[in-house]
Amino acid sequence: MIKFTDVCVKFDGRPVLKDFTMEVPTGETLVILGGSGGGKTTMLRLILGLLHPDSGSILVDGQEIVGLPERDMVPIRARMAMVFQGSALFDSLSVRENVGYRLYEEGALSDSAIERLVVLSLCFVGLEDTLEKMPAELSGGMKKRVAIARALACSPKLVLYDEPTAGLDPINAHLISELIRRLQKEQHLTQVVVTHDLDTAYRVADRLIMVHRGEKLFDGTVDMLKTADDPRIRTFLSPQEVLAAPGCFPAKDGGIRVVTPTMDEESPA
Ligand SMILES: Nc1ncnc2c1ncn2[C@@H]1O[C@H](COP(=O)(O)OP(=O)(O)OP(=O)(O)O)[C@@H](O)[C@H]1O
Ligand SMILES: [Mg+2]
Repeated sequence: MIKFTDVCVKFDGRPVLKDFTMEVPTGETLVILGGSGGGKTTMLRLILGLLHPDSGSILVDGQEIVGLPERDMVPIRARMAMVFQGSALFDSLSVRENVGYRLYEEGALSDSAIERLVVLSLCFVGLEDTLEKMPAELSGGMKKRVAIARALACSPKLVLYDEPTAGLDPINAHLISELIRRLQKEQHLTQVVVTHDLDTAYRVADRLIMVHRGEKLFDGTVDMLKTADDPRIRTFLSPQEVLAAPGCFPAKDGGIRVVTPTMDEESPA
């Protein structure tokens, strides 16, 4: 379980998260939606304890992590895995070495136990035949699947994904969404998925949060989101529909700016 209460983050005096409160119950897949620069990746960094808020509380499985010394954060972080935007594989390591990297670093398991976990994780994502390949030999979609296998190899309880389907074609995006869905259904992992992509969001979410300029604009189910009438949410969900109306432009606050033509130019002199 993750719980944010009144979390505030500022960078260079500029607020990036404002009194942000949210909860991710154990076993739930929460999707965080929102436009660029809204504070989504910042939220993942807060959960991982890589960034501390200026104020507020963050509980992970009931334990306060704000202000926790790094050595006490290590066992908490060991229960988490992150799938980074852009996969973040080590180019000079094979798929086998990439997937087993954290386990080898931790040094808690024998080589044969690590090998078994590596193969199991790669089987889950359907890439068991790529063990000896190098990242450069893989497509973008395969890299994402290896990144998911790497996350799973550590048997995490919580998996965080930053834009897991960005830059993928619809078939590969669908494949990744299905993997996330299966992890929720079959392994009951708690998952937080940051995405811009509505298809992915609708497919994987138990619940969604929409963040806009550091504030929570929406918190609810897919059906509730689809029927929300806040103009900023409507613009995000279907910009083509909202902005197609004559005189409608995106507004700075994420809503719609309606420009009514003045008659001055056509007025008789
Ligand atoms: N370390 C940092 N120092 C200064 N500003 C930062 C830092 N990290 C993030 N920011 C700023 O905070 C804001 C939110 O950043 P964040 O990366 O969380 O956005 P995001 O919602 O993930 O955006 P995107 O969808 O583009 O990935 C942005 O304006 C960003 O420039
Ligand atoms: Mg981001």
